[in-house]
Amino acid sequence: MHGVCGPCGFFHSNHINLEEGIYRYLPLEHRLLFEFTEPDLAPRISKACFRQRFVGEGAVTFFWSVIPYRMEWRYGPAAHRVLPMDVGHVCQNLYLSAEAIGAGACAVAAYDQEALDALLRLDGEEEFVIYLAPVGKRAVSL
Ligand SMILES: Cc1cc2nc3c(=O)[nH]c(=O)nc-3n(C[C@H](O)[C@H](O)[C@H](O)COP(=O)(O)O)c2cc1C
Repeated sequence: MHGVCGPCGFFHSNHINLEEGIYRYLPLEHRLLFEFTEPDLAPRISKACFRQRFVGEGAVTFFWSVIPYRMEWRYGPAAHRVLPMDVGHVCQNLYLSAEAIGAGACAVAAYDQEALDALLRLDGEEEFVIYLAPVGKRAVSL
């Protein structure tokens, strides 16, 4: 979600006055681009995440994908050190934002790379998923 040199964002939503579907976040415009929808997105997302059920059941699921070249041309091999830091910081901010609205987030790194890339219609080479996090109402408020 850092536009030019960082990860891009996708999200799957089924609760926030948007049609269920996959949207791409356009950081420079701070807008969402509807990409596509298809039946059974939530269970398919969950299945691609080794059947972690909660992953598809959040109000919204954020997926971060990376296009490594966008960082490599500038930072060379160091890009591979910086990219995961970048995504980690972004996800941490999502935790903070979720907390601020009384919601919960859960970082997820356990997923089937090929299955999730295919589900999001990414080629898996130039661009691939690196991290995701469902966000939703807490079952119990703290
Ligand atoms: C890099 C990373 C990957 C994670 N992957 C998963 C995951 O695939 N599934 C999951 O349930 N939690 C995952 N977590 C969330 C941790 O399990 C969670 O942060 C931990 O259980 C502590 O949660 P709590 O402090 O909210 O109790 C991941 C956390 C991090 C930082």
